[in-house]
This record gives sequence, C-alpha cells and structure tokens, in this order.
Amino acid sequence: MPQIQPLLDAETIAARVREMGQEISRDYAGEEVVLVIVLKGSFVFGADLARAIDLPVTMDFLGLRSYGDGVQSSGVVEITTDLSKPVAGKHLIVIEDIVDTGLTMDYLFKNLATRGPKSVKLASLLHKPARTKVHVDIDYLGFTIEDVFVVGYGLDFAQKYRNVPFLGVLESDGVLE
Ligand code: IMP
Repeated sequence: MPQIQPLLDAETIAARVREMGQEISRDYAGEEVVLVIVLKGSFVFGADLARAIDLPVTMDFLGLRSYGDGVQSSGVVEITTDLSKPVAGKHLIVIEDIVDTGLTMDYLFKNLATRGPKSVKLASLLHKPARTKVHVDIDYLGFTIEDVFVVGYGLDFAQKYRNVPFLGVLESDGVLE
C-alpha cells in the first residue's frame, strides 16, 4: 500500500470548513438553501460543511463522473445520479471536493441553469489553478493547492483512500507514474 504524504491535516481542514460555514450562514441569512452535494468525492466535505451552516438547509445529491480510474480527466462529464427534486426558484449551493480543469463544474453549472434556480453558487474544498482549462467562479473556497494528485477526506485514487481523514499526496512508488 503506497504511503500518503500529508498535505492538510484534519484540524486545519475542520477549521477552514467551519469558517466557510459561517460565511455561508451570514450570506444567506433568512433564506432557504438547497445544498447540492456532488458524489462521490464531496460526501465527507459536504457532511462537515452542512453541519457548519446555521440555516434551514435541505440537501440533495448528484452523481457526476468526469474521471476514469486514472488521474487524467477524460473531459467527458456525465450525470450518474440526478437530483431527487426540481430546483426551480431555489437558492443552490453546489458542494464540490476539487476544481481541477474546471470541466466538471462548467458542465454542471450549465446544466443547473436550465432548471430555473433562483441562484447557484459554488463551494469547493480545493482548487488546482495550474490545471485550469475552463474558468469557474468559486464563491467559497477552502484551499488552493499545487498541481499534485490528492487523496483522502472523500477524494479517491481508483476509488480508494476516501476514508483517510486528512488530505495527502500518494507517494510515487510507481503507482502514479
Ligand atoms: P475537473 O473537471 O478537471 O475540474 O475535475 C474535477 C473532478 O476530478 C473532481 O470532482 C474529482 O473527482 C477529480 N479530481 C481532480 N483532481 C483530483 C485529485 O487531485 N484527487 C482526486 N480527485 C481529483
């Protein structure tokens, strides 16, 4: 099993997620919000961020696939599980684990716009600006990171490491070569 080089420890992540929750609570005071949690990578971040938001939120889940089991984006995005309810007239906050090339969020925002929401904002735990192909506005950002492939805190490599409680980089023993 490859070693994971720690990048962001659990306490650092928790402190930032609490701040993001407070910011969202202030910005949407008095409003009802639907948190759109993007599966699978955002299930940990989404669970923590939702509990840091002091508002009457509802939650829905949307499965997207933009990666194979490797580390390169295919550029092809598909909805594998759709939202359970219409979102017309609702304030939406999309909760994403990482914006890498931006292709996935660009696709999702265009798709959500066709459903007539009142507003759509993006909360992303991570951003890798070095790999941008399409610009995406991130309204609430946890951390900007270098061009490294990270796992843990919900993020996977070949579906593994999602349960690692911190964010780290897989040490190259050939696995990412
Ligand atoms: P984008 O379309 O290139 O922005 O890719 C976004 C998706 O790629 C994320 O939701 C992740 O599923 C995946 N991804 C991108 N970078 C990483 C990474 O460093 N670790 C794990 N998954 C990643």
